[in-house]
Amino acid sequence: MAPGVPSEKKKKKIEEQSSEERAIRVPNPHLEKIKEDILYHFALGTATHDFPALFGDVKFVCVGGSPSRMKAFISFIAEELGIGSPGNDHPNICAGTDRYAMYKAGPVLSVSHGMGIPSIAIMLHELIKLLYHSKCSNVIIVRIGTSGGIGLEPGSVVVTKQSVDATFKPQFEQVILGKSVFRSTHLDEKLAEELMECGKELDQFNTVVGNTMCTLDFYEGQARLDGAFCSYSEEEKLQYLKSAYEAGVRNIEMESSVFAAMCNLSGLRGAVVCVTLLNRLEGDQITTPHEVLKEYQTRPQKLVGHLIKKHLGKQ
Ligand code: URA
Repeated sequence: MAPGVPSEKKKKKIEEQSSEERAIRVPNPHLEKIKEDILYHFALGTATHDFPALFGDVKFVCVGGSPSRMKAFISFIAEELGIGSPGNDHPNICAGTDRYAMYKAGPVLSVSHGMGIPSIAIMLHELIKLLYHSKCSNVIIVRIGTSGGIGLEPGSVVVTKQSVDATFKPQFEQVILGKSVFRSTHLDEKLAEELMECGKELDQFNTVVGNTMCTLDFYEGQARLDGAFCSYSEEEKLQYLKSAYEAGVRNIEMESSVFAAMCNLSGLRGAVVCVTLLNRLEGDQITTPHEVLKEYQTRPQKLVGHLIKKHLGKQ
């Protein structure tokens, strides 16, 4: 079995857990010794903030790259849940820093994570501890983002089945103390099915399930020809993207693998929902007009909004 692929027994255990009380896990024995936990990149700390009072009711967390998109999401979801009022702004909970932005509306938390694996990993370490200190349970977390599609019409929404690396393996490699550790990028299958169901119910845009390739770079790492450097031909690029398609890859982004790995380690039910901005078999540059791209970016939000409403019995 390839590293990172959970056995049938493990998959069954994960599924069973999803119907029971699911506490947040922080498997770090050193944390017990810390009197005050400072979540430095959020500008929040256990000695200065009452985490259970501030975040204890959180049941859904939505994360995405851009702070303005995550602010737009909180206004959208507040409106959808009937807990928003026009002109009533949602303050940035992490106003003490410009690393990440965080917004809350009822049981929904919306957090930006920046670009790439290191940026989202730092944010997730602190977010998982925030949820743990807040005594949250049964939390669903969804990454909503943008991606490059493979063989899909631009504007399609991909619900990730498996996050794979640039060699198409469902694993995330983390170097710890100088040694490679391979972590599973398995995602919650039931949640992915629920999101596909939401896509059918909404019936507003093409929604597909497929593998998502997570890369370390936007240019050479994603086989683009338009970076500052390029060491391969157009033919080699297309060959690589076609082999990705054959391996079930339908889109490419830069955060899903570590997101999936950290969901597994912490017991969070996780999903990845990304809109495709272009079809990479047809080009590399994003030439779609700004207004069209803006509308595309609302699509993952609409899908997740529908899911949240269904879970809260508001649909
Ligand atoms: N994000 C990516 O990582 N790649 C794309 O092509 C578009 C958005």
